[in-house]
Amino acid sequence: MTIVGQRATEATAELPANFLWGVATSAYQIEGAVAEDGRTPSIWDTFCRVPGAVIREENGDVACDHYHRMPQDVELIAGLGVDSYRFSISWPRVQPGGRGPVNAKGLDFYSRLVDELLGKGIKPWVTLYHWDLPQELEDAGGWPERDTAYRFAEYAGLVYEGLGDRVRTWTTLNEPWCSAMLGYDQGKHAPGIQNFGASMRAVHHLLLGHGLAGQALRAAAKEPIELGITLNMGSAKPASDRPEDVDAARRADGLGTRIYLDPLVKGHYPEDVVADLEARGAVLPIEPGDLEVISTPLDVLGVNYYSSHVFEGGEEPHEPVAVSQNLPVTAMDWEIVPQGFTDLLVRISQDYPGLPMVITENGAAFDDEVDENGVVDDSDRLSYISDHIAAVGSAVAQGADVRGYFAWSLMDNFEWAYGYDKRFGIVRVDYDTQERTLKRSAEWYRDTIRSTREK
Ligand code: FCB
Repeated sequence: MTIVGQRATEATAELPANFLWGVATSAYQIEGAVAEDGRTPSIWDTFCRVPGAVIREENGDVACDHYHRMPQDVELIAGLGVDSYRFSISWPRVQPGGRGPVNAKGLDFYSRLVDELLGKGIKPWVTLYHWDLPQELEDAGGWPERDTAYRFAEYAGLVYEGLGDRVRTWTTLNEPWCSAMLGYDQGKHAPGIQNFGASMRAVHHLLLGHGLAGQALRAAAKEPIELGITLNMGSAKPASDRPEDVDAARRADGLGTRIYLDPLVKGHYPEDVVADLEARGAVLPIEPGDLEVISTPLDVLGVNYYSSHVFEGGEEPHEPVAVSQNLPVTAMDWEIVPQGFTDLLVRISQDYPGLPMVITENGAAFDDEVDENGVVDDSDRLSYISDHIAAVGSAVAQGADVRGYFAWSLMDNFEWAYGYDKRFGIVRVDYDTQERTLKRSAEWYRDTIRSTREK
């Protein structure tokens, strides 16, 4: 057996035969065609125009031109032999401005995508919100405003009307932590606001929007749907057993993981986090009945994992400091910590029992080198992915209920504030010609999936 073949066998040894394999993308990162067929601007179209917000002032105007190349891209996906494709729907394409009737042309794009996928035996895994809020809703206050949650549920219902006869799996939100913290607290993502209080209001309204949308989908569904939400998480460990470090890890875990999972699964916010917020003058604007809505039963938890951190207490107790673990890093400067992945999955299965998980994103950016034939021998990415699939296997062996894995990403794409600089694809995109070329990691992924079917 070759070394890469051996890696495949080792990586997948613990995974069940019916494990779901997929690749993932999101609308703004790949589609382009931002002004076509009635689409209106999202907060990302606006943010990309703010000087200095995105590296080299890049934007998603063209991206991977997927809007015009969708059938060929589905061919590409089919060639990888995956079971499922996770993509997101652009809200301003389907409901321009975030209010009012559906834009039939916009919805039709996704309807055709779903048909192409199903025609090739690939299960569509829909994410309703991957960060592209219609700009008009941001102008009306965005996620810190309660009404946005209701608008989101209405939009979910419109999408369901168009696709619900063929789509079974629905993820409401992708990574609400990023929407709230990067968008409204750190200002590194759209809409670029720096206001901690606003970010906490956003957290609550994102969760409320998730619950309302989930209820709207279930009410509209004739057949049972599979309802999920995707969270980005890592394992947060203290640098030492000094009380400041232990407290820093508790706080990082509180605002990173428990503030989402506790209300979603247990129907209440964690008390220690609420107390920390109070001390900072921030409030979760809970109204009667909200927590029942937020804890609408989940069928699956989507887990996005990239790295894990070790924390030290900082100058301000509420500012945990991530310290270096002296581990190799990816091109994002994110430390490579597969053990943290295993720890996270085992921990979730213990703290939130009975919740099946699917890895909805995992992958890595590296500075790819292209040879004269256009080949990218990305052994660094291949190792990252195989080591992390093996980490999922160890968690499964320890009892975690993990049912699938989606590689981030199908292809190189617009990496938010990093523009096109960081390449996460297992398929290379030449942005001058829009040519797609399988990297070695894609070939390995395809062969690995095939080998698990022969088990
Ligand atoms: C996640 C996002 C995804 C991509 C990866 C690298 O936080 O969901 O869109 O940017 O990171």
